[in-house]
Amino acid sequence: MWQVRVAPCGDFDNHPFQSEHFMVEPLGAAMGAEVVGVRLPELSDEGVASLKQALWKHKMIYLADQHLSHAEHATFSRRLGPFAIDAYTQGTREERDVHPIIKEADEVTPSLFGGGWHTDSPFLEEPPSITSLRQIEGPPYGGDTTWTNTALAFKHLSPTFQDMLRPLKVWMSAGNNFATQTFLRGEPIGFGDKAKQDQGLKGSMHPLVRTHPHTGEPSLYICDTYAAGIEGMTTHEAKPLIDFLVAHTIQHAFTCRLRWQPGMVCMWDNAATMHLGPNDYDGFRREMYRTTIAGGVPR
Ligand code: SIN
Repeated sequence: MWQVRVAPCGDFDNHPFQSEHFMVEPLGAAMGAEVVGVRLPELSDEGVASLKQALWKHKMIYLADQHLSHAEHATFSRRLGPFAIDAYTQGTREERDVHPIIKEADEVTPSLFGGGWHTDSPFLEEPPSITSLRQIEGPPYGGDTTWTNTALAFKHLSPTFQDMLRPLKVWMSAGNNFATQTFLRGEPIGFGDKAKQDQGLKGSMHPLVRTHPHTGEPSLYICDTYAAGIEGMTTHEAKPLIDFLVAHTIQHAFTCRLRWQPGMVCMWDNAATMHLGPNDYDGFRREMYRTTIAGGVPR
C-alpha cells in the first residue's frame, strides 16, 4: 500500500551558529539566518572567518541595513575568496566584479534572470562557491528570494536511495535553459561569446552527491535549470530521476524565503543550496548587485 506524503521531520538543525563577532538569528527551521550586530566592512579577519562558518552552517545568511557601495561590496567579497567568472552578467563600470541585476518598473518579461530553481553556473567545471547579493531598491511586496537546503534534502532520503545515488554523476548543461529562454522570449538567447556558449552547452559532469569542501557534509548537487542527464543513463532513465530529486529537494519543508529590504546583503553556499529569483513584481523596480566567489571542482 502507498503512503500519503507527509511533511519531512527529524534532522532539522538550524540552531544559531555561535560567534563572538556577531549574533545569529535563524530564519526558518530548514536553513537561513540573519546576522546582526555588525557592519560587513568593519569585520575583522577573524570575524570574516566566523561569518564563513555561519554560512556553512545556515547555507544562506543575510544582514540588514548595510547600504554598501559597489567598492565596499567588492572589497568585502574579495575577503571571502577570489572572484569567480560569472557566466551570464557583466560588472558595473566602477567595479567589474559587482554585477547588476535590475528589472525596471516598466519591464515585463516571461523570463527573468534566475527565475527557475538553480544553483549558480553548475555547467562550469569549477562553479562558484559563494554568491552574494545586495538590494538597493525593491518592490513594496514580492521579489522575495527562496532557497532550499540540498544537504537536508539528501538526509531525508532513505539509506538505500542515498547509496544508489552516491556513485552517480550528473550532467549539468546550459542547453535546456537557453532553449527555454529562447522559447519564452521568442528570440535566440545564449552567452553571445562562442567559446562560452560551447562550454555552456557541453557543460560538466559533477558528483550527484557532493561532499562540502569545508565541512565534509554530503548534499544533492541537483538543479532544475541545468541538470540535463546522468552519466551512463539514457534520457528516459535519467529524466524521472532528476525530476524526482528536484521535486524532493524543493519541498516547502527544506526551504526559506527572504523578504528583502533596501540596504540588505545576503550570501549563499552554492554547494548546498538551490535558489529561485522570483518574477512577481511587475510595475515595481528591483535593483540588485551580485558578486560570485570562485569554487573548486565539486568532489
Ligand atoms: C540569482 O539567481 O542569483 C538572483 C536571485 C534574485 O534575484 O533574487
